[in-house]
Amino acid sequence: MNDSVKFWAVVPAAGVGQRMQADRPKQYLDLAGKTVIEQTLERLLQAGLFAGLMVAISGEDPYWPMLPIARDSRILTAPGGTERADSVLSALNRIAPTAVESDWVLVHDAARPCLTISDVHLLIDRLQDDSVGGILALPVHDTLKGVEEGRITATIDRSRIWRALTPQMFRYGALKHALEQAARTGETVTDEASALELQGKKPAIVEGRPDNIKITRPEDLALAQFYLEQQTHE
Ligand code: CTP
Ligand code: MG
Repeated sequence: MNDSVKFWAVVPAAGVGQRMQADRPKQYLDLAGKTVIEQTLERLLQAGLFAGLMVAISGEDPYWPMLPIARDSRILTAPGGTERADSVLSALNRIAPTAVESDWVLVHDAARPCLTISDVHLLIDRLQDDSVGGILALPVHDTLKGVEEGRITATIDRSRIWRALTPQMFRYGALKHALEQAARTGETVTDEASALELQGKKPAIVEGRPDNIKITRPEDLALAQFYLEQQTHE
């Protein structure tokens, strides 16, 4: 690894978790004895390769300050925004005084607590010499159907379809510029790669592990717990 290039981690954690239908945002639900966000952040900290870790937290979030990890000196917070991309941009602005354009940023959802350190290393090893950067992703195994009004209208060639995961790894300057442009033009970007794609870039994909799930619906918590237990036996 090139020692002069810095790596930063950005963790958007300012969502409300509407689809989870819980009494609090999903990142604060209990998972294997800790909150989801603590599991996620501890894994990134354990990787031991980040110059800093920025977490985007909603201004109306009473849960974050109650966690011991909120006082960890390696973690900085930034105010969350309306959309995920706004939260990520806010976190990038937080390090504007220290980060340089060519530094790498790994953006990882707070809601993906089963990320393995080996996948973080895989992503970095594959992409640190890449001109664009890229993302962890998974090939799709199911047969895919195009549907209109409840009826199948097409079978989609799945060899060209991948599911985007996180972390997503891009150069600080290029990512900030792409997110700012998307915000200015009002384009919807649901991940960092799509912001870069709008700039005409072609982010690379690196095949990640299928257990790097995003906790989205209530049943995902039990699955995440199962994966975390499995990983302790690896
Ligand atoms: N996120 C964020 N700021 C937002 C929206 C989302 O930082 N304005 C974060 C979430 O906290 C989560 C990640 O982005 O860690 C992925 O988003 P998602 O899974 O959609 O989480 P929520 O938006 O909280 O869930 P939902 O869409 O069900 O409301
Ligand atoms: Mg959302």
